[in-house]
Amino acid sequence: MTKPATSDFDQNHLWHPYASLPPTYPNIVIDYAEGIYIVTEDGTRLIDGMSSWWASVHGYNHPDLNTAITKQLGKMAHVMFGGLTHQPAIDLGQKLLSIVPKGLDAIFYADSGSIAVEVALKMALQYQIAAKRSTKRQFASTRSGYYGDTWHAMSVCDPVNGMHSLYGKQLPMQHFVSAPPLGFERRLTQSEHDELTRFFSEYGSQLAGFIIEPIIQGAGGMRFYSSEYLQLLRKLCNDYDVVLIADEIATGFGRSGKLFACEHADISPDIMTIGKALTGGYMTFAATLCTRQIADTIHHSDYPALMHGPTFMGNPLACAVACASIDLIMSYDIEARTANMQAVMQQQLAPAMALNGVKEVRCLGAVAVIELEIAVDMPVFQALLINNGIWVRPFGKLVYIMPPYVITDDELVTLCQALLTVVTSYLNQVSVTNRASI
Ligand SMILES: Cc1ncc(COP(=O)(O)O)c(C=O)c1O
Repeated sequence: MTKPATSDFDQNHLWHPYASLPPTYPNIVIDYAEGIYIVTEDGTRLIDGMSSWWASVHGYNHPDLNTAITKQLGKMAHVMFGGLTHQPAIDLGQKLLSIVPKGLDAIFYADSGSIAVEVALKMALQYQIAAKRSTKRQFASTRSGYYGDTWHAMSVCDPVNGMHSLYGKQLPMQHFVSAPPLGFERRLTQSEHDELTRFFSEYGSQLAGFIIEPIIQGAGGMRFYSSEYLQLLRKLCNDYDVVLIADEIATGFGRSGKLFACEHADISPDIMTIGKALTGGYMTFAATLCTRQIADTIHHSDYPALMHGPTFMGNPLACAVACASIDLIMSYDIEARTANMQAVMQQQLAPAMALNGVKEVRCLGAVAVIELEIAVDMPVFQALLINNGIWVRPFGKLVYIMPPYVITDDELVTLCQALLTVVTSYLNQVSVTNRASI
């Protein structure tokens, strides 16, 4: 097996996401990335199945994005947004408002997805305070959600597979309803409909907002659910004056098969968060958008200012590259492109269903998931991935891919076939190990 380059310094001094220091297995040193490939220090080329966690949708080192960012660099890399503004921020705002679900009309530029979620929660609360609804101070979500790692974002993540068990009572208490029933095509049963309705009749008067990832729950379980559920949620939020916050940080910009996942249900949220693919994976950047009604209600209150203001708010490099990324997205026929990716992944990964140890294979838009029956042993799995020339990063029992949109059909077939080989070898290896240990 190939052993890619690792670094002793990295291992001893640098924390990586959700990892111990030193890590249980070393991180691979990447030298550069181009198109759909990331290239290790020793020259191994890996097809990127992850788009660097939903972000690098146009692949790496894209000429249009490089040009946009270098052109802006020649003018200014950054200028504070307090009291100042600039053309890239204005251009980006105009582009965003022309493509997001109707009704969204005001934008707060944040510096990461988690911060966009914090701002969304603050915005919803400030709106309810401004609207003088004194009982509405809490938040709700469904189980199996993921909204980021900052304090309040964490508090609305799934209370079991999130980080509640670690941080416990220090986290604010929120309300949770069952996860949306699995299945994009599935109709809600009467009891599922009644459960959500009952939840609102019990807690609706206390809720400032309800946050949800529309149609695809990502890091909380890679679950797809129906537009009918989202439509019911929209109706209940209207009935009980609860601010509906759609977190499109992962789903936004085409990943679910529509430009924004809310479009599957033909609904508009009151607040929406976006990030990740916003800059095509070039810069850390995100945004929180809200309706004119929310912005105006806050404006006409005793505290008209929205109380948030990160140092790097509206960073010009990020705005410039986001403009170029949106232009690229709008130049693809994104629905046709992702429908084609879905069809290829579905067809190529279907044989995994026959493997002992695979629970389910599911695809929606440009996302495909192979759910195993047991959690992946990462060092073993990762070594197989590298040896087969692909980069995928499973968590728990979930092996999933969301490749860059620029991947060709042939390259997507290569990625899927390599993934099938990896999963097959892995499951054989695990069952051999299990047999050996009996
Ligand atoms: C739906 C969703 N919301 C929020 C976040 C947090 O974004 P960030 O990692 O940029 O803070 C993520 C990240 O995976 C996400 O998937």
